[in-house]
Amino acid sequence: MHATICDLITDLTQNSIEAGATEIHLKVEETKTNLNVVIADNGKGMSAEILGKAKDPFYSDGQKHKHRRVGLGLPFLFQTAEMTGGTATIESEEGVGTTVAFSFDRANVDLPMFGNFATAAVTLMAYGFDGNLIIERSVNGKSYSASKNELAEVLGDLSNTESLTLLKQFIQTNEKEILNPNI
Ligand SMILES: Nc1ncnc2c1ncn2[C@@H]1O[C@H](COP(=O)(O)OP(=O)(O)OP(=O)(O)O)[C@@H](O)[C@H]1O
Ligand SMILES: [Mg+2]
Repeated sequence: MHATICDLITDLTQNSIEAGATEIHLKVEETKTNLNVVIADNGKGMSAEILGKAKDPFYSDGQKHKHRRVGLGLPFLFQTAEMTGGTATIESEEGVGTTVAFSFDRANVDLPMFGNFATAAVTLMAYGFDGNLIIERSVNGKSYSASKNELAEVLGDLSNTESLTLLKQFIQTNEKEILNPNI
């Protein structure tokens, strides 16, 4: 299986959802040289003990998914940082929230493919959790932002196919604009 950076972003944001966050800020920035990502949530956070374990790339409680893909989530993050000479940090406070940040060198040959951010963004926005997800995305200085709550106000409940189609169009149009060097 070839997991992409966008799979990693989806998985880490899923962690924030699973931690009961009501607000998640996802920042995904590509500069000429670097890929910088920050995922900040106000979920339940981690105790020092759990944080220590979560930071250990060789730790897995093996409880949650006995049958599924391995190596996503935090282990994939730390392995990728290690393999490509990038940086990855987690800061967490119990009862307050968690911030995961990483910065990778885009030119490193061992960096996984970036993947499709529009798909990741739509998947996360359409995921049935009550909180807000605020995305800030930029490529080489061009940027857009998207707030799940604001989009739901305009498009209607993001669980029906019509509003999902509009959501997809909104994200894809924005992605196209920032990825196209000519506009
Ligand atoms: N944002 C977060 N808030 C609170 N706890 C977190 C957060 N992210 C990770 N954790 C803790 O770290 C553990 C490891 O996360 P990781 O994503 O590597 O595996 P997982 O979520 O348990 O399983 P999987 O990602 O395969 O579904 C989680 O089980 C959780 O206890
Ligand atoms: Mg996880």
